[in-house]
Amino acid sequence: MVVAVPYLLEVTTDAKGVTLKDQLIAYAASLPKAELHLHIEGSLEPELMFTLAQRNHTDIPFKSVEEVRAAYSFSNLQDFLDIYYQGMSVLNTEEDFFDLTMAYLNRVRTDNVRHTEIFFDPQGHTERGVAFDTAIGGILTALSLAKKQFGMTSKLIMCFLRHLPEEGAINTLHAAEPWLDRIDGVGLDSSELGHPPSKFERVFKAARERGLKLAAHAGEEGPPDYVYEALDLLHIDRLDHGNRSLEDDALVKRLVSEQMTLTVCPLSNLKLCVVDDMTAHPLKKMLDLGLRATVNSDDPSYFGGYMNDNFAAVITALDLCQDDIKTLAKNSFRGSFLSEGEIRAHLAAIDLFQ
Ligand code: HPA
Ligand code: ZN
Repeated sequence: MVVAVPYLLEVTTDAKGVTLKDQLIAYAASLPKAELHLHIEGSLEPELMFTLAQRNHTDIPFKSVEEVRAAYSFSNLQDFLDIYYQGMSVLNTEEDFFDLTMAYLNRVRTDNVRHTEIFFDPQGHTERGVAFDTAIGGILTALSLAKKQFGMTSKLIMCFLRHLPEEGAINTLHAAEPWLDRIDGVGLDSSELGHPPSKFERVFKAARERGLKLAAHAGEEGPPDYVYEALDLLHIDRLDHGNRSLEDDALVKRLVSEQMTLTVCPLSNLKLCVVDDMTAHPLKKMLDLGLRATVNSDDPSYFGGYMNDNFAAVITALDLCQDDIKTLAKNSFRGSFLSEGEIRAHLAAIDLFQ
């Protein structure tokens, strides 16, 4: 039997009417995966926002969960960031950060995420009077509990807010000093346009000297030049988003030859109008070019889905085959900051799935 669907001319179904795409979505859901691009503050679900607002007697400008969700309509990154920083105002105590992190870990456990590398935005908290130690303390307690309770491993990446001066990032690195044995890397996020990676060269050098891994958002809204700067001036180990690299053939060639991991976020790209439509998403093209692309959720509460929702969206819209999906799952571990031995074990586990 042949059924017409919007994305393919035709899709075969089995006797029960299950399409090949349904099978691929189920296959992706079943695979062990790592998440490499997740802002923990962006996993704050409206329900938890209300619970925390009540607990802390914090005012929020919404009357209901439905009203919050209705406000999540964005035309660009800045639109989203304005509401993302507003949402953070309910996070005040160590317990709040613990509850936030635990909710995310419990949720993605059901998506077969076995390892996660979490971003947090300390300046989003210290700028409004919440201590660095309060935020990181709650997050780390949840990460160790998840390891103990259900064997999920994690890394923690501290992001610098690029719309603020580099001095703020340097102060943040100093505040992090007592925690550096439990912080694995630094990242660069927030408003990209007008805030090129070159603005953060000194603080990234200082982070590198402290043995931290380096990641940076580049090429989400910013031009390929920002990706070059992230590579040449910041010496990144991983590129967050990187979509606009595709505008520059020489850059693509370099990213392929360096086997640079791109942490691609399909639902985020759709919600922030980085792509007009999921059928126009460059993920399949990235894989075909040999780029080490991965699938991630970015800010799942704001963008409408967690890890498996992102896989389902790209499988539905693009012509991904089973091998592509396996490659994406493997890339998520290859691009992680786990040890070589740990990565090998995860890749072998994926090979057991058919
Ligand atoms: N881009 C840049 N900064 C961010 C994002 C993003 O998608 N999410 C949270 N901070
Ligand atoms: Zn991001």
